[in-house]
Amino acid sequence: MNVAIIGTGYVGLPTGCGLADFGNKVVCIDKDLKKIEQLNSGKSTIYEDGLDDLLKKVIDSGMIHFTASMEEGIPNADLVILAVGTPMHPITGLADLGYIKAAAKELAPLLSGYTVVATKSTVPVGTGDIVESIIKETNPDADVDVISMPEFLREGYAVNDFYFPDRIVVGTNSEKARKVIEELYEPMKNYQPEDKRTKMLFVDRKSSEVIKYASNAFLAVKIHFINEMADFCEASGANVLDVAKGMGLDSRIGPKFLNPGPGYGGSCFPKDTNAIYHLAKSLDVDMTLIGDAINGNNERIKDMAGRILFNAPLRNPKIAILGLAFKNGTDDCRESPAMDIVKYLLDSGAELTVYDPKAMGTAKTLLAEGSVKYANDVWECVDGAECVAILTEWDEFRSIDLETLANLVEKKTIVDLRNLLSKKEAEAHGFKYLGIGV
Ligand code: UDX
Repeated sequence: MNVAIIGTGYVGLPTGCGLADFGNKVVCIDKDLKKIEQLNSGKSTIYEDGLDDLLKKVIDSGMIHFTASMEEGIPNADLVILAVGTPMHPITGLADLGYIKAAAKELAPLLSGYTVVATKSTVPVGTGDIVESIIKETNPDADVDVISMPEFLREGYAVNDFYFPDRIVVGTNSEKARKVIEELYEPMKNYQPEDKRTKMLFVDRKSSEVIKYASNAFLAVKIHFINEMADFCEASGANVLDVAKGMGLDSRIGPKFLNPGPGYGGSCFPKDTNAIYHLAKSLDVDMTLIGDAINGNNERIKDMAGRILFNAPLRNPKIAILGLAFKNGTDDCRESPAMDIVKYLLDSGAELTVYDPKAMGTAKTLLAEGSVKYANDVWECVDGAECVAILTEWDEFRSIDLETLANLVEKKTIVDLRNLLSKKEAEAHGFKYLGIGV
């Protein structure tokens, strides 16, 4: 099948490469010429485990091509996937549909033959109707079905989540469109055993749009819940890691997403919780639980930065920051709690040396020139530090040798906002150790 994907970001690029690997002819379209050039040269524009090899494979096989021109990709497409950004509107908190609407307007006149247009970007309920009316108004003769096909991949696991998604949700009432999507994912049968095959759920378009927001909002609330439980455990002398273990044994709760930390971040949870909360408000529905999670998560940043400052010398403390990305496995620093904490510490006069295994490049684009020192590895980062703060859950930080650390730092204080190290071990090496909820 001929597939066109509009938007080659954290969703569009892995999806395009995966669909090309499935044997589809894929054209990825993006306005950013630099990005297009780099991708056609075989160099990925984002860090994702396994993506470089997959990109090279599908370029060498001639199954994928990157272009800035809609004319090149849309006319022959059987399926057009919208994977453009839907950023949060800074004032209203609603998802900004500017890119979606512009893409619909631009692709409409180029459609030829029966085409399925699938929205993969995370969009408010009813966006499918908007895309459909834009296309019909712009090209009344278009033979098109507009469907919702939300993305559930996690950054850092995008390639894995493409090949082994928990579910494929499709919002359409069209039998014809359903057949196209069933054909698209047919290749899963080649590598997924029958009993472990990804479920495909076909619902109406609006329900599909809500499933995405509801899932992300629920996961964000679950994280905020365990963060509040961590605070309660600290105050009551319990251990949140044991509490989470005990909770997770209940099959209705499950062990995942019960790791306390500095708060949830990334380009999805903050944006999606705000989008559904404010959209609900506009429909006179007050989703207080989500609202409280949004406010509590924002407040948490100040509390976390305060813990670091409280455990560092008063005047211009020299603090080593381990981790800048919003989570492990990615170079993405968008809405990263670590970056928010770094900015808060800088405003408080701290002298920071920072290190992240993958996100140094992206962090540099977000931090003022000369505001922090960039280290090439953990040891260079902690050398001479008066406090070491662990902000991102990179595996590399779990195995820090405490002996070496003790010999390098100026003062033996660790504020571990991801509970990566063992409190007992750290204290046995003479450190003052502050974890979360432990
Ligand atoms: C999320 C959803 O998981 C994914 O299904 C959706 O498609 C996109 O949004 P992502 O934003 O990549 O994926 O990251 P995720 O792994 O969900 O983590 C989000 C944030 O929550 C990160 O800041 C992470 O550090 C934090 N987190 C996650 C916790 O603090 N504790 C946890 O137990 C899990």
